[in-house]
Amino acid sequence: MWEEEAWELLEKSITYYQGQPIGTVAAQDPEVQALNYDQCFIRDFVPSALVFLMHGRTEIVRNFLVETLAMQSHDKGMDCFAPGLGLMPASFKVKHDGTREYIEADFGESAIARVPPVDSCLWWILLLRAYVKATGDVALAHQADFQTGIKLILDLCLVHRFSMYPTLPVLDGAFMIDRRMGVGGHPLEIQVLFYAALRTAKELLLPQDGGHFYLQSITQRLGALKYHIREYYWLDLQRVNEIYRFKNDEFGKEVANKFNIHPESIPAWLTEWLPDNGGYLAGNLGPGHMDFRFFALGNLMAILVSPASSEESQSIMNLFEERTADLMGFMPLKICFPAVEGVEWRIITGSDPKNFPWSYHNGGNWPVILWLFAAAAQKTGRQALAQKAIALAETRLIEDKFPEYYDGKQGRLIGKESRLYQTWTIAGLLTAKEIMNNPKHIDLFSFEEEVESPGYRL
Ligand code: GLC
Repeated sequence: MWEEEAWELLEKSITYYQGQPIGTVAAQDPEVQALNYDQCFIRDFVPSALVFLMHGRTEIVRNFLVETLAMQSHDKGMDCFAPGLGLMPASFKVKHDGTREYIEADFGESAIARVPPVDSCLWWILLLRAYVKATGDVALAHQADFQTGIKLILDLCLVHRFSMYPTLPVLDGAFMIDRRMGVGGHPLEIQVLFYAALRTAKELLLPQDGGHFYLQSITQRLGALKYHIREYYWLDLQRVNEIYRFKNDEFGKEVANKFNIHPESIPAWLTEWLPDNGGYLAGNLGPGHMDFRFFALGNLMAILVSPASSEESQSIMNLFEERTADLMGFMPLKICFPAVEGVEWRIITGSDPKNFPWSYHNGGNWPVILWLFAAAAQKTGRQALAQKAIALAETRLIEDKFPEYYDGKQGRLIGKESRLYQTWTIAGLLTAKEIMNNPKHIDLFSFEEEVESPGYRL
């Protein structure tokens, strides 16, 4: 049984601090130089944490939450610059110096290209909620240090700088796609995680000690954010028709083309590719800029945490069904579609060979996303789609030694620089299986659609 082997590998990936399990390392490939893959990444730990919670192994998740919270306050930036206090590290590693054991965290100051891990604090807060849901131990989240931790995260996310939109502006490579890929600005993945983090904070934050001020801003921001995502990111044939006939350079408040999107920027592939019954949320949106690429993680998360309506969620699942060859291929799932090629690749990625067309982040296939697909399929009642995807993945993954990612238009090649025995590939498959066996598990991570708060008016 592959499950047994997968569990053994997962077990072996656990990293210990002072004798206690506190996380899992990213990969255990014996043949490739570890670089930072011997670290515990916050985002990578998510599927491991979920499958541990589903199996009653709650201690490791608790330890992880406590230890990472202790890392939150730091002064490690670049060139003596200290970033905001709420930042959570991208990854950490347990080290020994002969006499003592200590944890070294990386907030981006050691990461390739010094990318800030914006998503870490958002995933962290979601994991806290999953832990509370699985154990009923709300007391942990109510502890003073946890309340402060949540507020620090909110301080970072809710601060008003020069933004005009309710979305969160970030640099390129600030999340799972942690290299230059033209995903700076207001990428969908961060907006959906931000939305989910706000909903979590609303559940877990106590009104005392200034908490009610935060709760007020959360309510306001949630309404505006949901409206913004639904109204402006959504794409289906009808919407593309509207954009196609947009007027440009409109001035004033009541205009149709608020972001001044030029119809000429609609890519040639899109109109042919969109099925009649399918739609999705665009990858990014800003002034004169709509990224029409399809990003799987942001769209699946949008189904799970509900900035997408139930109708939109069905349309996204229809898209997966109608465009299986492109979005699943031989190994589910494609991280983003389509790849950028030629001059576009040179300009957008800075000629990054790792992100060559149809490789790695640039149109590669990432089996870890399978757990999100299974959860989204459960939530939308489209289980058959997930069963098919899991069946496709399971035999191949075990034969291929759980690679990090696959390359090629349809994901037929093991990724060129892919690590083997990648922990989140293993945990993602196990989590997907568990979710299919017990639909209740999606409660750990999903939100129902929010009823509009009375304080919010358009
Ligand atoms: C790569 C991925 C990133 C992941 C890390 C560790 O850098 O892009 O998302 O967290 O590997 O697996």
